[in-house]
Amino acid sequence: MALKRIAPSVLAADFANLQRDVEMINNSAADWFHIDIMDGVFVPNISFGMPVLRDIVKHANKTIDVHLMIVNPDRYIKTFADLGSNILTVHYEACTHLHRTLQAIKAEGMQAGVAINPHTSVSLLEDIINDIDLVCIMSVNPGFGGQSFIDNTYKKIIQLREIITRNNANTIIEIDGGVTSKNAKKLIDAGADVLVAGSFVFKSSDPAQTIKELKEIIAI
Ligand code: DX5
Ligand code: ZN
Repeated sequence: MALKRIAPSVLAADFANLQRDVEMINNSAADWFHIDIMDGVFVPNISFGMPVLRDIVKHANKTIDVHLMIVNPDRYIKTFADLGSNILTVHYEACTHLHRTLQAIKAEGMQAGVAINPHTSVSLLEDIINDIDLVCIMSVNPGFGGQSFIDNTYKKIIQLREIITRNNANTIIEIDGGVTSKNAKKLIDAGADVLVAGSFVFKSSDPAQTIKELKEIIAI
């Protein structure tokens, strides 16, 4: 079975102790750093931008998985490559020429991801699935950490897995929003490869231990 991964979302970290939280992830069982960039236009919230990402990358020793919740992401592809992003995910709903955007991301040496909002059908990805390295299925409406998981996500994972198999694609499936130890196993069983977890990790009393527990749950 393919490797299953946990990607803690830095959005839920303590920004006044960011280096401490980055080191915690470095020394934990986590696989990736999930970085949420919000512009206050595509989503009704603003997170953080380039200077913060630059300083995270300076200390991080794992894959940098950047989730852009911004309009016109094409404007910033080179910037995020230069900052050290390994995976750059754009929103389906924010791209008029998604194929072109994905090629531009790959041309900068990054893996190309597409995120879909809860209302967006996975069937819309059928014709482009072979160009996508990662699909991020949003299991909450993007914009905020700490929201409740939307149950329709399981159905979407199963449908997307069928599309990937049918097209012989290598695309991996990431789930973002409301992930906890309660739904982690069910998400993996439905066909997910990567689980993003923000509040569940950082609001726990021992975040590194919580990451370890999530890893153990999804490895079974
Ligand atoms: C939501 C972000 C998520 C968020 C997840 O817009 O894309 O990555 O940080 O946070 P939790 O795990 O708290 O739902
Ligand atoms: Zn995210």
